[in-house]
Formats: sequence, C-alpha cells, structure tokens
Amino acid sequence: MKVPKFDGAVPQHVAIVMDGNGRWANARGLTRVEGHRAGEAALMDVIEGAIQAGVKYLTVFAFSTENWKRSPDEVKFLMNYNREVLRRRRDELDGWNVRIKWAGRRPKLWPTVIDELLIAEKQTAKNKGLTFTMCVNYGSRIEIVDAINQIVEDSKSGKLNGALTEKKMQKYLLTKDLPDVDLFIRSSGETRISNFLLWQSAYAEFVFLDVLWPDFSRKDLWAAIQQYSKRNRRFGGAVDKPKKAKGN
Ligand code: FPP
Repeated sequence: MKVPKFDGAVPQHVAIVMDGNGRWANARGLTRVEGHRAGEAALMDVIEGAIQAGVKYLTVFAFSTENWKRSPDEVKFLMNYNREVLRRRRDELDGWNVRIKWAGRRPKLWPTVIDELLIAEKQTAKNKGLTFTMCVNYGSRIEIVDAINQIVEDSKSGKLNGALTEKKMQKYLLTKDLPDVDLFIRSSGETRISNFLLWQSAYAEFVFLDVLWPDFSRKDLWAAIQQYSKRNRRFGGAVDKPKKAKGN
C-alpha cells in the first residue's frame, strides 16, 4: 500500500492508546480477550505503516499500572499475551530493522514478561530503523513520582548536583531515551489521556479517531498524520498577523 503525500511534516514520535478491543469483541458476542487477540494484527499493520511514513519513534500503551484492576482472567491473558506476541513477532520486527524498547515499572509485572521484553530489547538493540516502545506496566503519574524519589536520593548522596532542570528530570523518566511526543493518537472515540506520557506529551498534537482498535490500520495512522501535518505548532510562541479590515 502506497503512503499518501502529506501536506506538511511527518511526526518524529507517535504515541498510541490502542483502545476499544473489549467493545469490539463484546459487540460481536465475543469475550474481551478475543478483542485483544484481534488487536495484534492492527498493531503490526500500524508498525509497518509507521515505517513507511518515516516515523522514527512509535510508542504504544500495552498495559497500564491501572490495568491490574481488571478481572484476574483478563490480567492473566494480557500478561501471557504480551509475552507471546513478543516471542512470536520478535524476529519479524528485527527483520524490519525495528528497535524494540520497554517502558514500564518492575513491581507486580510478571518476571517472565520482563525477561521477554529484555530479550527483545537485546536482540534488536543495534537496529537503526523505527524505535518501537511497548509501555507495559506503565503509568505516567507514578513514573513522575518514582523519578522525584530517585532525584531526592541522588541529591542526598551527591550524585545529582545543583538545581533540577527539565533536561535533568527527563533522564529520570522511564522514557529517558525518547524524544517528546509529536502526535498522540487514541482509538475508539474516547477523548482521554488515561495517564499515558503526561510529561512527554506537553506539546503533542492530539488526534482522536472513532475506530475501535481491532479495526485500526495503517490508513488510520496516515489519516492522523495528515491531520497533524496541517496543524500549526507554536510551542507557546505566537505571531501577530491581524487581518486587513474590509474597505482599507
Ligand atoms: C485497550 O482496549 C487495550 C488494552 C488494555 C490492551 C492492548 C493490547 C492490544 C492492542 C493487543 C496487542 C497485543 C500486545 C501484546 C501489544 P480495552 O480493553 O480498554 O477496550 P474497551 O475500552 O473497549 O474496553
């Protein structure tokens, strides 16, 4: 499938909340986990579409620190599924020159899932194509709290000197090696951030698409990129351009 010509710049970093698996499944008389299963193909298609479009960083919300509240069966499925998808897709993604990264907290996360994430990171560490970050057991508020606690410790021990700056703070985040998010996409029609990449998305452009994640494809990604490419990003700056009054 050919990438369309975008009106303006392509975002360097795209973040996606892959929402709507449960609703997609229930609407078809299926269980929620069947929706997650269907979400895998959408994710692979979007990764390929991101590479084609020239996106450099793609970061997805695979499991949040709040998702532990779901039923034990769904949590168990998602843990197993994260591990299985990584194991099954690792070589394919490696073949696409994708560098796989994990962003998330260790507490509670299944050690076998952490192992699989680290294996995928190691195998693809030298790849120079798309950096694909899976946020597994990730939550932005706790990420910031963890960072502050570490900063306090490092200040006490003398490892961190002088006043804290935005740049130094960035080094304490789970996404320390990633640039800021340019384009933040959420599928399923919901218009929430849900504790995803709060610090990193300070100046992101938001696109909310009314498509449930299993129905999402690279075409939807490109439609979001097209919206992005037409936006005027000012990062707090402004240009005075008064319209000429009629009759002058
Ligand atoms: C949100 O939909 C989706 C998740 C919490 C899980 C994301 C998993 C996938 C997209 C499957 C791909 C596989 C991996 C391992 C990355 P939801 O369950 O909140 O849907 P709902 O809002 O309709 O209930």
